[in-house]
Amino acid sequence: ARVVVLLSGTGSLCAALLDATDDPAYPADVVAVGADRPAAGLEHARHRGIPTFVCALRDHPDRGAWDRALAAEIAACDPDLVVSAGFMKIVGPAVLVAVGDRMVNTHPALLPAFPGAHAVRDALAAGAVVTGASVITVDAGVDTGPVLAQREVPVLPDDDESRLHERIKAVERELLVETVARLVATGTRGHSSR
Ligand code: GRF
Repeated sequence: ARVVVLLSGTGSLCAALLDATDDPAYPADVVAVGADRPAAGLEHARHRGIPTFVCALRDHPDRGAWDRALAAEIAACDPDLVVSAGFMKIVGPAVLVAVGDRMVNTHPALLPAFPGAHAVRDALAAGAVVTGASVITVDAGVDTGPVLAQREVPVLPDDDESRLHERIKAVERELLVETVARLVATGTRGHSSR
């Protein structure tokens, strides 16, 4: 199956998916990696000769034009699945039409708890003793799509945001690799299965 990954940062989740695809038995190949900025994470793809693209909001007159440009970049890759792996933008209607229910997002909390861009900080601030990682289908909202997979991560008493986030990302990597394989193998998308 043809997978396109979108990222904004270091791309540790994208790297984990790329490592998984090194196994010929893994039922997916990453055909391109895109970003909304010249993100460091793109290097993981370049290093493997995988095409990359940057679709930056500031290169477009407005958000609608950016959304349409991103949709065109994604569609040009002819993906079976699009994976948002630390992609820090809310995609617009053009992308949603282009991907349908074939776009998933990984989030460092047990959705619906702690949606949004500061999930780890919010869980700590709320005094959560258990948090986790979620993989959801992307819809028009912010982290509101159907939950495809979740896994718990303990919060330790002396955790700070970065220590907890690293512990979550270790689980996110596993959960994402497993869930992408399940989705492309069974074609099950948009159905909630914990
Ligand atoms: C991940 O925890 C992702 O869920 C969140 O930001 C982090 C991205 O990490 N949105 P990386 O860029 O893959 O290292």
